[in-house]
Amino acid sequence: MIAHVLKLHAQPTAWTGWEERVRLMVRPRRFEHVVRVAELAAQIAAANGADVACAYAAGILHDIARDLPDAELLRLAPPECEIDGLHPLALHGRAGRALLERWGYADTVVLEAVEDHTTGPRGDNRVAQAVYIADVSEPGRGVNADIRELALQDLNAALEKAIISKVTYLQGRGITVHPRTLRSYHALPCCAHLTDSGDSGHAAPTSAFQ
Ligand SMILES: [Fe+2]
Ligand SMILES: [Fe+2]
Repeated sequence: MIAHVLKLHAQPTAWTGWEERVRLMVRPRRFEHVVRVAELAAQIAAANGADVACAYAAGILHDIARDLPDAELLRLAPPECEIDGLHPLALHGRAGRALLERWGYADTVVLEAVEDHTTGPRGDNRVAQAVYIADVSEPGRGVNADIRELALQDLNAALEKAIISKVTYLQGRGITVHPRTLRSYHALPCCAHLTDSGDSGHAAPTSAFQ
């Protein structure tokens, strides 16, 4: 099925075309997750003055490459660091963006949200921030309800909590943190002065590459 979709050349112009393409690219349970992320990202965007339509679109598209084989991920997104080579799943955000660009998707705000949802948002892209939080806290995950509720009040505070929790969790278990995640961590106003030891005092489990 996936190999078949990768060979398609027709460019869907209506939004429903993109949603259907995602449905064909991922496993059924993944698509259920994708819809929950899109709905929550839209709610978070609405609560924080961000673009609701872009947040929903980015939520639908964020895991478009998540179920591709490792070889395809590596082809679409050549490794930038050792972690990428050892764990190609870390590439599915960058690979998703690459795939969407090949298929003619051009909204850079959405593309950046897709690219960064795996390792952490950059700068002040509120859509990317909303999708990142929605991805780690959508109800189907069964964790991070506190981050979800916080995001519906204060997206900046939720982002800080989520990124600090992730870095602390990984470092506490001796797992190397992806350089892009460390970049997001050090971009937080509260963490700019910290070293990579991540001595934050926060802890909550999240997985390495959603
Ligand atoms: Fe996801
Ligand atoms: Fe993902």
